Amino acid sequence: MSIENSVSADDELAILHQLFAATPARASYLLPLLQQVQARVGFVSQAAMRAVAAHVNVSRAEVYGVVSFYHDLREEPVGDTVVQVCMAEACQAVGCRDLALHVERRRGVALGTIVDGQSWHAEATYCLGNCALGPSVRIGDAIHGRVTPERLDALLADEVRS
Ligand code: FES
Repeated sequence: MSIENSVSADDELAILHQLFAATPARASYLLPLLQQVQARVGFVSQAAMRAVAAHVNVSRAEVYGVVSFYHDLREEPVGDTVVQVCMAEACQAVGCRDLALHVERRRGVALGTIVDGQSWHAEATYCLGNCALGPSVRIGDAIHGRVTPERLDALLADEVRS
């Protein structure tokens, strides 16, 4: 999924109001609500965490605990496109380390490092459920298998500006 990282504070507030209007104010909706915030805003800001905590009537610490536990929830914006390189065992057996090194060389930073202004973000993940077709990579919402450095470059050429 390509994420809009240019959401202003006013837009974020409007999105939160829309989500709150559509979501019951119960603690059981905490995770789905945070996932919606992530999907619509691109990350879950401190202000959003406070507002969500108030809406579902849980502590801010509880909300923060959920945000920090789930890898797909981010506390700060990253590039418009997120690239996840699977580093779990099955993918390691078929060359994901070379792929990860290629991505790091291309970005100039280690996987997981957030670079201001970069149009894409890359990070390690641990199993995309595509083990038989590794090395596996997710770009946005799409999972790709048998990814070589050359194929990754081709996929990225369609997705991001470098
Ligand atoms: S180990 Fe990489 S997709 Fe499962």
